[in-house]
Amino acid sequence: MTDLWSPIKLGNLQLPHRLAMAPMTRSRAKPDGTPGDPAPEYYAQRATMGLLITEGSQLSEDGQGYLNTPGIYTDDHVAGWRKVTEAVHAAGGRLFIQLMHVGRRSHPENTAHHRQPVAPSALAPGEDMFTSKGMLPVPEPRALTTEEVRQTVADYAYGAARAIEAGADGVEVHGANGYLVHQFLAPNANERTDEYGGSLENRARFAIEVVQAVAAAIGHRKPVHGSGPLRRHCEHYQPRMHPDEDVRGNVEDDGRC
Ligand SMILES: Cc1cc2nc3c(=O)[nH]c(=O)nc-3n(C[C@H](O)[C@H](O)[C@H](O)COP(=O)(O)O)c2cc1C
Repeated sequence: MTDLWSPIKLGNLQLPHRLAMAPMTRSRAKPDGTPGDPAPEYYAQRATMGLLITEGSQLSEDGQGYLNTPGIYTDDHVAGWRKVTEAVHAAGGRLFIQLMHVGRRSHPENTAHHRQPVAPSALAPGEDMFTSKGMLPVPEPRALTTEEVRQTVADYAYGAARAIEAGADGVEVHGANGYLVHQFLAPNANERTDEYGGSLENRARFAIEVVQAVAAAIGHRKPVHGSGPLRRHCEHYQPRMHPDEDVRGNVEDDGRC
């Protein structure tokens, strides 16, 4: 009988059971985004889960939004994450690094570069967030140029490759909770007039390109998982869209399954 404790295959990975640890931002990284010293012990303590999904990790400077979150794009980040993956593997576990770009849900007080956050459009989310100076309104972001959007897609692929280099067993693309991928999908955050905005197909383009780029970078070797509206679908990577997430319709291609 299939139950929570039955083994399951995920890509090329054999999981001993079906319980996974959800990604949880810890805000314990070093100022340069290298995972903090407690991270190997923290994750290794939880290695009996079928799968660990790490805290969201920014794939570029602009991808950061919260204080002291880890990155996965410099050599120091990779060296820091390698200590984590080695500790988890030594304890018998498996770990995916979650790739996260917060888009407009960021604050200059929370980043080392202190720049204005970037997003699909110059639309503030209209909420406060915790910063190094307490709760502050999230500022209006700067709209990414089309070229910058393409570069951001490439940044996801780069972060994915670096995660595998650090010893991760796979990656998860954070597609949920109002962050960058979700912002592109949502008409209330995306008023672009280029090929990344407007119609449902255009708003979905960023999500599709990100997952395809990540899969091309590592998918033949390691599993890629998408959270929120992103789901692995048959052999393809398609966004699954839900009305609760501000996206009307569904652009899955079910024909090939
Ligand atoms: C403190 C905290 C940090 C979180 N950080 C992340 C994160 O980095 N990435 C992510 O995808 N979800 C994050 N989440 C969302 C959780 O992974 C989970 O999806 C959410 O808590 C809903 O699950 P639940 O209904 O079991 O609580 C976070 C949640 C909490 C409470």
